[in-house]
Amino acid sequence: MTQIDTSVPHSARIWNYWLGGKDNYPVDEAAGDAYTAVFPGIVTIARSSRAFLGRSIRHLVQEAGVRQFLDVGTGLPTVDNTHEVAQRLAPESRIVYVDNDPLVLAHARALLTSTPEGATAYEPISLYEPEQILAAAGETLDLTRPTALILSGILGHVADYDEARELVRRLLAGLPSGSYLSLNEGSRGTDPAYEQAQDAYNETGAVPYFLRPVEQIEAFFEGLELVEPGVVSVPLWHPEPGEPTEPIGQHGGLGRKP
Ligand SMILES: C[S@@+](CC[C@H](N)C(=O)[O-])C[C@H]1O[C@@H](n2cnc3c(N)ncnc32)[C@H](O)[C@@H]1O
Repeated sequence: MTQIDTSVPHSARIWNYWLGGKDNYPVDEAAGDAYTAVFPGIVTIARSSRAFLGRSIRHLVQEAGVRQFLDVGTGLPTVDNTHEVAQRLAPESRIVYVDNDPLVLAHARALLTSTPEGATAYEPISLYEPEQILAAAGETLDLTRPTALILSGILGHVADYDEARELVRRLLAGLPSGSYLSLNEGSRGTDPAYEQAQDAYNETGAVPYFLRPVEQIEAFFEGLELVEPGVVSVPLWHPEPGEPTEPIGQHGGLGRKP
């Protein structure tokens, strides 16, 4: 197993810190605090991104009848992990989690608490190995049946945009018609402080994360049928009563493979 490096901040750990979790180290806390000193809105963004993820899974289960989920870039276990949201509504749901962070692997047991009717699995594979991900996922999921690919806050880690598009394309190529992509990513153009804080974070030695223009986030869905209202700031995607609807610098949507 790759060693857990506590000398530089890590994406999964700093995200966990902003989400209010305890699975992080002083280096992550320091980087998280330096970030919020410049752009406090990141805490809302992290939480709104998770809220979007939950709503998109509920939509997939209830409106689209999807029972299989491939969640790449899972992150550390938190409240309402993908399998919990899906299996609460459809206990037979099957979920494969994929991440390449050693701390996520160390905590993976918490992601594997399936209902008896369903199944969960964890695969420590990098996003850069899409065919390997699909092969491993095929051991738990029936990839001849519709499957939801979840990419939540991971593609910004791929510095080259065309490469990020290609990775999405290769993952979707392994899924049948009627499958879905649930994606949300940090966006540029909403607040200069957000961009400034992200640039500083990218200098810390952590794997950098790049905010993208909304049109680039939208283009990840090329060839898919977007579920209304399309790609929007995440609080505006099917908000539930009482949830905030202020636009923020995190955009996402849900698309169906025809
Ligand atoms: C910002 S966190 C998002 C976590 C979770 N999906 C969420 O929405 O709350 C990004 C996640 O992507 C993972 N990640 C980054 N690069 C990766 C790669 N090349 N392969 C697999 N996972 C990766 C990180 O370890 C981290 O857990």
